[in-house]
Amino acid sequence: MQTSTNKIEKYELILSQIDAAFDKELDNYTNLNHVLAILKYTFNWFWTGFYILKGDTLYLGPYQGMIACTKIKVGKGVCGTVAAILKTLIVDDVTKFEGYIACHAEPKSEIVVPGIKNDKLLFVLDIDDLEYGAFDEVDKLYLERIVKSIVDEDFI
Ligand code: SME
Repeated sequence: MQTSTNKIEKYELILSQIDAAFDKELDNYTNLNHVLAILKYTFNWFWTGFYILKGDTLYLGPYQGMIACTKIKVGKGVCGTVAAILKTLIVDDVTKFEGYIACHAEPKSEIVVPGIKNDKLLFVLDIDDLEYGAFDEVDKLYLERIVKSIVDEDFI
Protein backbone atom coordinates (compact mmCIF):
# COMPACT_ATOMS: atom_id res chain seq x y z
CA MET A 1 0.00 0.00 0.00
CA GLN A 2 1.53 3.32 -0.95
CA THR A 3 1.10 6.53 1.00
CA SER A 4 -0.19 9.58 -0.87
CA THR A 5 3.19 11.25 -0.24
CA ASN A 6 5.16 8.65 -2.14
CA LYS A 7 2.45 8.59 -4.80
CA ILE A 8 2.90 12.36 -5.27
CA GLU A 9 6.68 11.91 -5.48
CA LYS A 10 6.20 9.26 -8.15
CA TYR A 11 3.87 11.49 -10.15
CA GLU A 12 6.29 14.44 -9.90
CA LEU A 13 9.05 12.21 -11.27
CA ILE A 14 6.71 10.95 -14.00
CA LEU A 15 5.90 14.52 -15.06
CA SER A 16 9.60 15.27 -15.55
CA GLN A 17 10.18 11.92 -17.32
CA ILE A 18 7.26 12.53 -19.66
CA ASP A 19 8.50 15.97 -20.63
CA ALA A 20 11.92 14.49 -21.35
CA ALA A 21 10.43 11.54 -23.25
CA PHE A 22 8.35 13.70 -25.59
CA ASP A 23 10.22 13.88 -28.88
CA LYS A 24 8.49 15.47 -31.87
CA GLU A 25 10.82 13.56 -34.24
CA LEU A 26 9.10 10.37 -33.13
CA ASP A 27 5.70 9.16 -34.25
CA ASN A 28 2.88 10.44 -32.02
CA TYR A 29 2.02 6.86 -31.08
CA THR A 30 5.56 6.32 -29.79
CA ASN A 31 5.28 9.38 -27.55
CA LEU A 32 1.90 8.17 -26.30
CA ASN A 33 3.26 4.68 -25.64
CA HIS A 34 6.09 6.23 -23.61
CA VAL A 35 3.51 7.91 -21.36
CA LEU A 36 1.49 4.70 -21.00
CA ALA A 37 4.58 2.60 -20.27
CA ILE A 38 5.92 5.07 -17.68
CA LEU A 39 2.53 5.07 -15.91
CA LYS A 40 1.91 1.33 -16.08
CA TYR A 41 5.34 0.28 -14.88
CA THR A 42 5.68 2.97 -12.19
CA PHE A 43 2.45 1.94 -10.48
CA ASN A 44 2.29 -1.68 -11.65
CA TRP A 45 -1.21 -1.14 -13.02
CA PHE A 46 -2.96 -3.88 -14.98
CA TRP A 47 -3.68 -1.88 -18.15
CA THR A 48 -3.18 1.64 -19.48
CA GLY A 49 -4.46 2.90 -22.81
CA PHE A 50 -6.14 5.50 -24.93
CA TYR A 51 -9.47 5.31 -26.71
CA ILE A 52 -9.76 7.85 -29.50
CA LEU A 53 -13.07 9.44 -30.49
CA LYS A 54 -14.25 9.21 -34.09
CA GLY A 55 -17.90 10.07 -34.64
CA ASP A 56 -19.93 8.45 -31.86
CA THR A 57 -17.40 5.70 -31.14
CA LEU A 58 -14.22 5.39 -29.08
CA TYR A 59 -11.59 3.33 -30.92
CA LEU A 60 -8.71 1.60 -29.18
CA GLY A 61 -5.48 3.55 -29.64
CA PRO A 62 -2.04 2.92 -28.11
CA TYR A 63 -2.08 0.76 -24.98
CA GLN A 64 0.13 -1.20 -22.59
CA GLY A 65 -1.16 -4.52 -21.34
CA MET A 66 -3.41 -7.29 -22.58
CA ILE A 67 -5.36 -7.07 -25.83
CA ALA A 68 -8.58 -5.13 -25.14
CA CYS A 69 -12.00 -4.13 -26.52
CA THR A 70 -11.52 -2.17 -29.71
CA LYS A 71 -14.73 -0.12 -30.04
CA ILE A 72 -16.88 1.53 -27.36
CA LYS A 73 -19.94 3.64 -28.18
CA VAL A 74 -20.24 7.03 -26.47
CA GLY A 75 -22.53 6.52 -23.46
CA LYS A 76 -21.50 2.86 -22.94
CA GLY A 77 -19.26 1.54 -20.15
CA VAL A 78 -17.00 3.72 -18.05
CA CYS A 79 -15.11 5.08 -21.07
CA GLY A 80 -18.26 5.91 -23.02
CA THR A 81 -19.81 7.54 -19.95
CA VAL A 82 -16.75 9.78 -19.54
CA ALA A 83 -16.98 10.63 -23.25
CA ALA A 84 -20.59 11.69 -22.65
CA ILE A 85 -20.17 13.66 -19.41
CA LEU A 86 -16.64 14.98 -20.17
CA LYS A 87 -15.50 14.50 -16.58
CA THR A 88 -13.02 12.11 -14.97
CA LEU A 89 -14.63 9.06 -13.37
CA ILE A 90 -13.09 6.95 -10.61
CA VAL A 91 -14.74 3.54 -10.20
CA ASP A 92 -13.71 1.89 -6.92
CA ASP A 93 -15.49 -1.39 -7.70
CA VAL A 94 -16.18 -2.15 -11.34
CA THR A 95 -18.87 -4.72 -10.46
CA LYS A 96 -20.97 -1.86 -9.06
CA PHE A 97 -20.80 0.27 -12.22
CA GLU A 98 -23.92 -0.34 -14.29
CA GLY A 99 -22.99 -1.13 -17.88
CA TYR A 100 -19.30 -1.72 -17.09
CA ILE A 101 -17.55 -3.28 -20.09
CA ALA A 102 -15.31 -6.13 -18.93
CA CYS A 103 -12.62 -6.41 -21.60
CA HIS A 104 -10.76 -8.50 -19.00
CA ALA A 105 -11.99 -10.49 -16.01
CA GLU A 106 -9.20 -9.34 -13.67
CA PRO A 107 -9.57 -5.56 -13.06
CA LYS A 108 -11.34 -4.40 -9.89
CA SER A 109 -11.11 -0.62 -10.23
CA GLU A 110 -10.72 1.91 -12.98
CA ILE A 111 -10.09 5.60 -13.72
CA VAL A 112 -10.96 7.27 -17.00
CA VAL A 113 -9.83 10.83 -17.85
CA PRO A 114 -11.17 12.80 -20.83
CA GLY A 115 -8.80 14.57 -23.24
CA ILE A 116 -10.57 17.77 -24.31
CA LYS A 117 -9.43 20.54 -26.65
CA ASN A 118 -11.54 23.64 -27.39
CA ASP A 119 -14.51 22.04 -25.60
CA LYS A 120 -14.37 18.95 -27.83
CA LEU A 121 -13.47 15.45 -26.68
CA LEU A 122 -10.50 13.95 -28.54
CA PHE A 123 -9.81 10.80 -26.49
CA VAL A 124 -10.01 9.19 -23.08
CA LEU A 125 -7.16 7.80 -21.00
CA ASP A 126 -8.28 4.52 -19.39
CA ILE A 127 -6.44 2.79 -16.53
CA ASP A 128 -7.37 -0.49 -14.81
CA ASP A 129 -6.00 -2.01 -11.63
CA LEU A 130 -6.32 -5.37 -9.89
CA GLU A 131 -7.12 -3.84 -6.47
CA TYR A 132 -10.44 -2.35 -5.40
CA GLY A 133 -10.26 1.43 -4.83
CA ALA A 134 -6.83 1.81 -6.43
CA PHE A 135 -7.44 5.37 -7.62
CA ASP A 136 -8.07 8.56 -5.67
CA GLU A 137 -8.05 12.35 -6.01
CA VAL A 138 -4.25 12.42 -6.27
CA ASP A 139 -4.42 10.16 -9.34
CA LYS A 140 -7.21 12.30 -10.80
CA LEU A 141 -5.20 15.51 -10.31
CA TYR A 142 -1.98 14.19 -11.84
CA LEU A 143 -3.56 12.14 -14.62
CA GLU A 144 -5.56 15.21 -15.67
CA ARG A 145 -2.27 17.18 -15.80
CA ILE A 146 -0.66 14.45 -17.93
CA VAL A 147 -3.67 14.37 -20.27
CA LYS A 148 -3.48 18.17 -20.57
CA SER A 149 0.14 17.98 -21.72
CA ILE A 150 -0.81 15.34 -24.32
CA VAL A 151 -3.59 17.63 -25.58
CA ASP A 152 -1.30 20.68 -25.55
CA GLU A 153 1.39 18.79 -27.53
CA ASP A 154 -1.24 17.71 -30.13
CA PHE A 155 -0.24 14.07 -29.81
CA ILE A 156 -3.83 12.93 -30.46
N1 SME B 1 -13.86 -1.14 -18.71
C1 SME B 1 -13.96 -0.17 -19.77
C2 SME B 1 -13.64 -0.80 -21.10
C3 SME B 1 -12.22 -0.65 -21.53
S1 SME B 1 -11.19 -1.74 -20.73
O1 SME B 1 -11.18 -1.41 -19.29
C4 SME B 1 -9.65 -1.67 -21.34
C5 SME B 1 -15.34 0.45 -19.80
O2 SME B 1 -16.25 0.00 -19.06
O3 SME B 1 -15.53 1.39 -20.56
